[in-house]
Amino acid sequence: MRKREDLRSQAWYGGDGLRSFSHRARSRQLGLNPEEHLGKPVIGILNTYSGINPCHLHFRERAEEVARGVWQAGGYPVEFPVATLSETFQKPTPMLYRNLLAMETEELLRSYPIDGAVLMGGCDKTTPALLMGAASAGLPAIFLPAGPMLRGNWRGQELGSGTDMWKYWDERRAGNVSDCEWSELESGLARSPGHCMTMGTASTMTSAAEVLGMTLPGVASIPAVDSAHHRAAAATGMRIVDMVWENLSIGEVLTAEAYADAVTTVIALGGSTNAVIHLIAMARRGRVGLSLRDFDRIARETPVLANIRPGGQFLMEDFYFAGGLPALLNEIRDLLHTERRTVSGRTLGEQLDGAAIHKPEVIRPRSNPLSPDGGLAVLSGNLAPDGAVIKHIAAERRLLKHTGPAVVFRDYQDMQARVNDPGLVVDADSVLVLQNAGPLGGPGMPEYGMLPIPDRLLKQGVRDMVRISDARMSGTSYGACVLHVAPESYVGGSLALVRDGDLVTLDVAARKLTLEISDEELASRKAAWTAPPPRYERGYGALYQQHVTQADQGCDFDFLARQGNNPTPDPR
Ligand code: FES
Repeated sequence: MRKREDLRSQAWYGGDGLRSFSHRARSRQLGLNPEEHLGKPVIGILNTYSGINPCHLHFRERAEEVARGVWQAGGYPVEFPVATLSETFQKPTPMLYRNLLAMETEELLRSYPIDGAVLMGGCDKTTPALLMGAASAGLPAIFLPAGPMLRGNWRGQELGSGTDMWKYWDERRAGNVSDCEWSELESGLARSPGHCMTMGTASTMTSAAEVLGMTLPGVASIPAVDSAHHRAAAATGMRIVDMVWENLSIGEVLTAEAYADAVTTVIALGGSTNAVIHLIAMARRGRVGLSLRDFDRIARETPVLANIRPGGQFLMEDFYFAGGLPALLNEIRDLLHTERRTVSGRTLGEQLDGAAIHKPEVIRPRSNPLSPDGGLAVLSGNLAPDGAVIKHIAAERRLLKHTGPAVVFRDYQDMQARVNDPGLVVDADSVLVLQNAGPLGGPGMPEYGMLPIPDRLLKQGVRDMVRISDARMSGTSYGACVLHVAPESYVGGSLALVRDGDLVTLDVAARKLTLEISDEELASRKAAWTAPPPRYERGYGALYQQHVTQADQGCDFDFLARQGNNPTPDPR
């Protein structure tokens, strides 16, 4: 156990120097009596609340509840508003800014008198960003997930955010949804604060945070507006104070075993493909060498048990009442490293003892999985030398081994302009290819990977086609979409060399993605390819452009991912 003089914040507040005098005097200016806060662990509450982020709309109230818990446990809470990454509103994509929030998190924790941190996130990129930054800062930290929003509803039917939007948008384009029905859908899709309640990126990453050991047990599954979520906020605030005294640093929690368990859990959840990129980036911050190969290996051994949309039938509220993440983890505990420590101070295994599945149709038992061998595959081949990813559980089975002629769009704008052009040569067997949508080409690797099926094919009843891009795909999307092709086309990867009519073969069982042209032809096209000029000449975009890594490396900035000296400031 640490003592008061061991606290990092004592370098700011303790001693008899001019600086500590100034810090104490300014604390009085804040309205604090010395006995209220001096000698107590300073807890930074990093709050991604914003009035434009509906997923975090309850975070003002939750931050107060966290602070209540911190005070009650004998700490001193200080709230820091940090960048929000609103998946819906931030363009071109919040992924462009994930590393910016990670940098902000790390530098705030480094530069202020903080002894421990509560990280408040949930909307897609906020979770990995906060955890990446905190991992680099190295202080004790605990994560408070936003929790999923309530189920959507339309005319008595349950709606899943994202998933059902895509579904009904296709039906509307096929002429099956009226203006009135469309307006009702707009009102019923998102009924409360909280992140998307499908197994999208948000639910996937907050569940990953929990199994990594970064949340109190069970918290990731609690709906955002449930009274249990209020209590979890206060309990999180109380626990971080103890973690500071115990000196339980984030590095002791985020181990190689923890990341292996996070991959296993993401697979068992049928989670978002975005987790591949985020977990690789997060792991590398902690010197854990997670790679695409690990995902493929673990996916082959792990069944999908969560029957949640888009791969399944139910929503996160159902998952919570079915026992939530602890119940699912207990069902696969033989695949996990149960001896490792979590932020609760207990081992993962101790936390899972007694966790039971209450609704086996929502969390399937091992004897009746949704899919016996994982829902995700990592592909390679001449079209993706550094890898590509497909969530095959969300695709029509008949497309998992398919050869078809390419229909190539050179970027998103080209695709929007031509996908419904009556002159476009396309049929149900075609392979839709989108170029220049990767980390640099997008920029920010937007979620364009679920390319729209041309209207005239939709009207013929086609609902899935093979689609290939260097983009990402929303975790709430579905279809035979090959994603994250690396290297991306913008830097001259093979995807840039595909031409209309080239045959492309997808073979998920063999883990192959092949452009059916000779090596000589591929080399000759490569030699003729010219790089586009830099897109950004100034600003954050220029920094991003210079330093972002490819999808198989996690899209972190090279200077943030590497190890090296980053001196802690001396406040005295
Ligand atoms: Fe925030 Fe989906 S829009 S989690």
